[in-house]
Amino acid sequence: MKQPKPKDDSPKGLMSKAISIAVVGSGYVGLVAAVCFAEMGHDVICVDNDERKVKALQGGDSLIHEHYLPELLERYRNGKVRFTTDLADATRTCSAIFIAVGTPQSETGDADLSYVEAVACEIARSLTTYKVIVEKSTVPVYTNEWISRALVRNGIDRELFDVVSNPEFLREGTAVADFLHPDRIVVGADSERAGNLLRDIYAPLTTGEYYKREDGIPGICSVAEPPPLLLTSTKSAEIIKHASNAFLALKISFINAVSNLCETADANVEQVAKGIGLDTRIGPKFLRPGIGYGGSCFPKDVAAFRSVADQMGIDFSLLTEVEKINVQQKKRFVSKVRAALWNLRGKKLGVLGLAFKGDTDDIRESPAIEIVKMLIAEGCSIAAFDPAAISRTEQVLPASANLRYASDAYDAASDADALLILTDWSEFGELDLKRLDQSLRYSIIIDGRNLYDPQVVADQGFTYISVGRPAAHPVRDLAAASH
Ligand code: UDX
Repeated sequence: MKQPKPKDDSPKGLMSKAISIAVVGSGYVGLVAAVCFAEMGHDVICVDNDERKVKALQGGDSLIHEHYLPELLERYRNGKVRFTTDLADATRTCSAIFIAVGTPQSETGDADLSYVEAVACEIARSLTTYKVIVEKSTVPVYTNEWISRALVRNGIDRELFDVVSNPEFLREGTAVADFLHPDRIVVGADSERAGNLLRDIYAPLTTGEYYKREDGIPGICSVAEPPPLLLTSTKSAEIIKHASNAFLALKISFINAVSNLCETADANVEQVAKGIGLDTRIGPKFLRPGIGYGGSCFPKDVAAFRSVADQMGIDFSLLTEVEKINVQQKKRFVSKVRAALWNLRGKKLGVLGLAFKGDTDDIRESPAIEIVKMLIAEGCSIAAFDPAAISRTEQVLPASANLRYASDAYDAASDADALLILTDWSEFGELDLKRLDQSLRYSIIIDGRNLYDPQVVADQGFTYISVGRPAAHPVRDLAAASH
């Protein structure tokens, strides 16, 4: 494909040397990595075999809803970041090739690594000088060895390449800031030469140089506190990625189980989470109870890590329990709706949120969508609103007699028997409660994300049911109940 003429878009004031980098895959990880490497001063070729995607990116469409992505794309598109379908050219031109293609979950729970293998074989076809091949996709331990084997089987001399593992820890919605302000950078390299190239690539961050820039993306790192780079073996790095995600999922399932206990004991899980999170050994993050974790990483990575353990004969049934609690949490939410409304058949519900979490249009493994499906199966009719995820949802769940997509939160609430909050978009925590009250048929909010102070909502005349906290009722109901 013909490339437009490069423009001079070098970030000003960066002293580290620019390295030529290929990023294969322009999904959530690849695209963010590509623009962020350019922002760090490197020259990037982003390769995707989907010609339509490449054209759209060349034309300035960022394709996904991600904070700062449109700005960085505008800054570097067709200059320091070139989009192409030509992997052979990128392989010849670049010193490092980052593989950031999908590793979907297979039927057995393992990661399906066929895309990674296909890229490795294609790289082999045009590799003639030394290259560092970097796994950025989430992959199980030993993938590194498989990539090496694939290259050697395709006739490449072992001296001509190294394979490095450099896992990402990006959260969707804040991926750009997470990339440029990471808690840590993990580089799993078994050769010094490859480890040094990765050190050079990340030098603008680890030396603090990037944080001197006035037009840099703001975040938690600074000149005084740049991120550490942890150098490990390739296998350790592969395990770090899976273990991190599995541990975070475990934290969420743990607090969800505690929230169920709180509901039965009439305690308040927010107080409990605060009380345990203040212990610095535990920490306050990822202790928000809700309707279970979703997204493209946690469900897939917990299953893949469990499967890796199984294959190695290690009993890691703790992970099975993490998954079990996560499945239960969605069913429990539907039971709450039933308990609040008596019968579900024929009930009209307003639903706020379809994305798997706030600030993203991603609906992969979204607990919100699973709950919507369960409620429709129970005979409810739904009016759903999400600020960014409606068009993606429509593709998997088209509007029907029982499902309407609403134009805003108040439209979703219109004449509904109850309003459900399923995604933690901040705007759902700032609704005009008086207006909602006028829209709803009954003043009932069932909040799966604990976005409101129960007392405040009850004072506005609502019955408010949330997760792990006592239900709150309006004063008039309490007065009626005492007569
Ligand atoms: C996650 C990891 O955080 C990131 O490091 C990794 O690279 C990819 O997977 P992401 O999937 O974008 O990132 O979302 P995250 O913010 O971690 O949330 C995952 C899920 O857990 C969401 O469904 C979210 O709503 C839920 N969650 C998160 C909770 O239910 N409670 C919490 O306390 C935190």
